[in-house]
Amino acid sequence: MQNFTFQNRTKIIFGRGTEEQVGVEVKNYSGRALFLYGGGSIKRNGIYDRVMDSLDSSGIEVVELGGVQPNPRLSLVKEGIKVCREDEIDFILAVGGGSVIDTAKAISIGVPYEGDVWDFYSTDMDIEESLPIGTVLTIPAAGSESSPGSVITKEEGGYKRDAVDNELRPEFSILNPEFTYTLPEYQTASGAADIMAHVMERYFTNEEHVGLTDRLCEGTLRTVIENTPVALEEPENYDARAEITWASTIAHNDLLGTGRVEDWASHKIEHELSGMYDVTHGAGLAIVFPAWMEYVYQENVERFAQFTTRVWGKETNYYSLERTARGGIKALKDFFSDIGLPTNLNELDVNIGDGDLEEMANKCTEDGTVGNFVKLDAEDVLEIYRIAR
Ligand code: NZQ
Ligand code: ZN
Repeated sequence: MQNFTFQNRTKIIFGRGTEEQVGVEVKNYSGRALFLYGGGSIKRNGIYDRVMDSLDSSGIEVVELGGVQPNPRLSLVKEGIKVCREDEIDFILAVGGGSVIDTAKAISIGVPYEGDVWDFYSTDMDIEESLPIGTVLTIPAAGSESSPGSVITKEEGGYKRDAVDNELRPEFSILNPEFTYTLPEYQTASGAADIMAHVMERYFTNEEHVGLTDRLCEGTLRTVIENTPVALEEPENYDARAEITWASTIAHNDLLGTGRVEDWASHKIEHELSGMYDVTHGAGLAIVFPAWMEYVYQENVERFAQFTTRVWGKETNYYSLERTARGGIKALKDFFSDIGLPTNLNELDVNIGDGDLEEMANKCTEDGTVGNFVKLDAEDVLEIYRIAR
């Protein structure tokens, strides 16, 4: 096990009715907030009114900015920075999913920064100052409600890049699983794939003696595997929604990566897809992750065999550990199909030619190799895109 520092400042407020606390929480930081949201689902399902009631009763003055799109765009970040500067706003409340929260994070570092906010996404410069943010989560998926990451797409060139810094963790996040009842099935399923991917990016390591975090990863994966079909069948099953919502946070608050070298190749490979073709991130991962596994599993067959037996409950094939390992990859792919996700590029509603695959592979490895389980160069990544076809 490697040395590590684990620190996560985000206060999690979880359960039914917890949105009633949002006004009091915001008041700890400011009497005035930017209320940031997405394409309008919160107005249709009543979340907007419930959050607004709580802000009103704490006397919080609100400036609204809606219109955050999935795979959130840099242009709206810049608009948000302008609004905050003009209206002297010093707190941002994100009500939505990863896209809204990531936009809030980008605005929060852009306001005090004199240069172009994209600098934080195109280089690994440190973040020294940010406005505090809070979140009310409406979809369990990205884990941005307590992660140190923000992922933004620059429209020009279709660059989807991240900034990662502890400064980006929200001050508080309110998680009411009932808020996820209105999710379209495709979003519930894509969210599940993203949560699983966050665990698997950490699980597939060559680090030894990480037994505790292995078991935590396996438990989180099993929780998602067991509860996602229930939530799809019964969208208002509180218990299933609650398990998935908590799994989303646990998967990406950095606890599961303690003491181990994490991978993250599949995320980088997927980000090219959603950056260039606006693919839903979790659906993109359902395509990329099994392809990555097929390409790299021989590097550590024992770990993949452990994944098969412990996560999917399948027997070890004592004549062939390799077959055991492949059984887990197949089980994952079957699960993604069963919950309604695409598992190859041809199932997407986009036209991707050979030249496009090469362009994505080159963009993905612009800064060198990606991943740690196996370090992948442009040719490796291209091969993974081809397997994914
Ligand atoms: O925009 P609205 O109208 O609200 O609709 C959204 C959106 O269309 C809808 N939705 C959300 N909650 C709903 C709902 N519809 C009905 N009822 C509800 N309760 O769902 C759609 C997707 O929303 P989005 O915020 O894009 O989803 P998600 O949370 O999956 O976020 C995806 C983004 O997060 C990034 C991804 O790359 C992607 O851009 N990620 C961020 C990470 C981080 N900051 O740590 C890590 C992840 O790996 C990921 O890369
Ligand atoms: Zn993700």
